[in-house]
Amino acid sequence: MDALSFLRADHQSVLGMFEVLDGAPKGTGATESGLATMVTNLVIAESQHEAIEEQFFWPAVRKALDNGDELADRAIGQEQEGKKLLQRLEDSKPGEVDYHDALAEFIKAGREHIAFEQDQVWPLFAAAVGKAELEQLGEKLETAKKVAPTRPHPDTPPNPMVQKTMGTGAAVIDHVRDAVSGRAGENPPDPQAH
Ligand SMILES: [Fe+2]
Ligand SMILES: [Fe+2]
Repeated sequence: MDALSFLRADHQSVLGMFEVLDGAPKGTGATESGLATMVTNLVIAESQHEAIEEQFFWPAVRKALDNGDELADRAIGQEQEGKKLLQRLEDSKPGEVDYHDALAEFIKAGREHIAFEQDQVWPLFAAAVGKAELEQLGEKLETAKKVAPTRPHPDTPPNPMVQKTMGTGAAVIDHVRDAVSGRAGENPPDPQAH
C-alpha cells in the first residue's frame, strides 16, 4: 500500500475515536471502564503511528522537499506535545480531573496535527516523490508498525535513529508489559484502508 493511503487509514481510525471520545461523559462505573478501554486503544494507535512517522516518514519528507526540515520539525514538535498528553492519560484514571483535561487537549491538538499533515505536508510530498517511492515507504511503515511501541515514551528523542534502535527496545518492553497486564487484548484492530 502506498505510504499516504497507509497513514490515512490510521488517521481515519483515530478521527473516528476522537468522534466517540469528544465530550465523553465524566460518569462513574461502567461508563468509566468503557472510556478507559477506548482511551487505551487511542494511546496504542497514536503511539505506534507517531513512532513510525518519526522512523520513516519525516526523514523522507526532509529528503524530498526544500522546506522539508521546517515541515518535519513543526510536525515533530506537535507529536512531542501529543506524547506528553498521552503520558498524562497513562498516568491518570477516568474520573480524575487531569485525565479529562488531557483527553480534551489531546483531541483538539490531535485534530490539528492530522490536518497539518494531510493539508500542508502530504500534497507537497506527493507532488515531489514518485509512485514507486510511495509504495516502498508504505511497505516500511507497514512492517515497522507491527513492532512499534504501544506506549508514548515522551522522553525518547524523536530522531529516526533513536526511534529505530532505542524505540524498538522500548517496544519489546511495551509488548511484554501489554501481555502481562492483559492490555494486549485491548489492542485496536488494524484499520482497513479506504
Ligand atoms: Fe504525526
Ligand atoms: Fe499522522
